[in-house]
Amino acid sequence: MRAASVSDFRELARRRLPHIFFEYIDGGSYAEETLRRNVADMEAIALRQRVMRDMSAIDMTVETLGQTMKMPVGLSPVGMAGMYARRGETQAAQAAAGAGVPFCLSTVSVCSIEEVAATGTPPWFQLYMLKDRGYMKALLGRAKAAGCPVLMFTVDLPLPGSRYRDVRSGFTGGTKLRTALTQAKDGVLHPGWTWDLFMGGKPHSLGNVQAAVQGGSKVTDYLAWISRNFDRSVTWADIDWVREHWDGPIVIKGVLDVEDAKAAVKAGAQGLVVSNHGGRQLDGVKSSIAALPRIADAVGGDLEVYMDGGVRSGLDVLKALALGAKAVFVGRAWAWALGAGGQPQVARMLDILRAELAVAMILTGCSAARDAGRTLLDDA
Ligand SMILES: Cc1cc2nc3c(=O)[nH]c(=O)nc-3n(C[C@H](O)[C@H](O)[C@H](O)COP(=O)(O)O)c2cc1C
Repeated sequence: MRAASVSDFRELARRRLPHIFFEYIDGGSYAEETLRRNVADMEAIALRQRVMRDMSAIDMTVETLGQTMKMPVGLSPVGMAGMYARRGETQAAQAAAGAGVPFCLSTVSVCSIEEVAATGTPPWFQLYMLKDRGYMKALLGRAKAAGCPVLMFTVDLPLPGSRYRDVRSGFTGGTKLRTALTQAKDGVLHPGWTWDLFMGGKPHSLGNVQAAVQGGSKVTDYLAWISRNFDRSVTWADIDWVREHWDGPIVIKGVLDVEDAKAAVKAGAQGLVVSNHGGRQLDGVKSSIAALPRIADAVGGDLEVYMDGGVRSGLDVLKALALGAKAVFVGRAWAWALGAGGQPQVARMLDILRAELAVAMILTGCSAARDAGRTLLDDA
């Protein structure tokens, strides 16, 4: 099947990836209410069609944090992408660079900061607050040395939410023997993936945390280290500590509440991502798109407001811009595309978003993405 839409990449990824990785990407936490809400609330928004307005020229570029994005879409940090396709983070980073949009590298990526930066475009770097401040400091130093332009600091993961699908699939929580058997069976059933990952896709460690994990041999050993290191004591005052070790822009990721958005401004952040971690953390909270307008109204003049969660088309991108986002980030959309077939599919997914955004802009009479506002929506 040739993918025509983001949901087609999901189906292609479902066919090509081992069940445990497809479920890991696709799933959310607990009953997945927030995951569903992210998509359903986005779908419920109606764009306002306008016609006969000479839309022969449209401009999708946005300037943000000293960078020009060729379209207002970036790639959210997604853990373990190097398990979805060989050296997956480098493939996705190259697709993003080709499209002129930022790629944000997860702390828990297979490819290290240095490996991704060596593709020629240093990524934005995502970090959590870790108990091991010495290791954090070292990571910030590595990101700086590699030329990462922006730090995305994730604040909605003081501990991981429970993901039922990962337990059911055998990815987490099982005995070592059960996990090994599940993975072996999955590998045999998905030979294309197995060939890709094992002939040239190694090592399958987590490049950024490798030095901290003594004797780790499997991705799950590294994830266990990270899990033990999430810091529940984190407060806004800790952003001062981050600032001492990072002099570039800081984007706070994982804000849903106006008071927290104001705190991010006070803490000196240059941007924030309205996000519920793609419905993977506190289930039952509101969707990102529902949280966005109030946050944008409250702090949009003080810092860059981005959003992620539930963006499945270029039409969704325009809806988020209309409600106050400077740009959106996509998580599953690129993870599915990478799982479907590496860099070419991520590039194609971005092409599809661009083409869909163009149609949405032209048929709402929006000639410049940076000027998108609520008048583009039907109930404005
Ligand atoms: C498989 C997967 C792994 C993720 N890993 C991370 C991560 O390492 N760090 C992080 O801050 N967010 C992570 N996220 C959350 C994404 O950055 C983003 O907030 C979310 O995917 C947006 O929702 P969407 O998938 O509906 O686009 C992950 C999401 C997925 C689907």
